[in-house]
Amino acid sequence: MKYLVISCSLNPDSKSRIMANAALSALENKEADVELLDLAELKLPLCDGGAVYGDPTVQELATKVEAADGILVATPIYNFDINAAAKNLIELTGRAWTEKVAGFLCAAGGQGSYMSVMAVANSLMLDFRTVVIPRFVYATGDQFQGSEIAHEDLGERIEQMADELLRFTSALRGS
Ligand SMILES: Cc1cc2nc3c(=O)[nH]c(=O)nc-3n(C[C@H](O)[C@H](O)[C@H](O)COP(=O)(O)O)c2cc1C
Repeated sequence: MKYLVISCSLNPDSKSRIMANAALSALENKEADVELLDLAELKLPLCDGGAVYGDPTVQELATKVEAADGILVATPIYNFDINAAAKNLIELTGRAWTEKVAGFLCAAGGQGSYMSVMAVANSLMLDFRTVVIPRFVYATGDQFQGSEIAHEDLGERIEQMADELLRFTSALRGS
């Protein structure tokens, strides 16, 4: 079984990237075959619904999503939604998400935006029959100190999400 953790923030001081790295470590400790992709490094073009699908970076990314069985998306919450880079990732790779398991790790400024991933979760479920793990990790800035997770409970919730990714993916794949 193959897994991806995709970090979607373009901010060098990103909190969701800290969560992506924690999830990567948790999955590696469970001996999962996992790779981290960081959109801040990939420099993806914006989706134009046409010629961009021929771009080599986009094709390579779509191949990696296609090859994965389970994917964790670590995303900032911007304007009560995932950020534009995460949305662009899904626009660029759409069909590659078909029947994958996906989970979300969200970094937000306040508690009030906790349902913000529902629009994209619905879209993934309805468009591509992606199985979205019904447990989101949602963290605000006070749960971090510098580049570290400062809140013990957040570390535990990321660990729990890693376990759920493995459990849902095995159940769906029947192995
Ligand atoms: C353009 C913009 C819009 C934002 N909108 C929201 C929002 O709707 N709800 C919220 O709780 N935080 C919002 N925030 C705060 C971010 O979610 C917060 O800074 C988070 O840490 C960003 O993730 P990152 O650190 O991984 O980049 C916004 C920040 C920016 C820059």
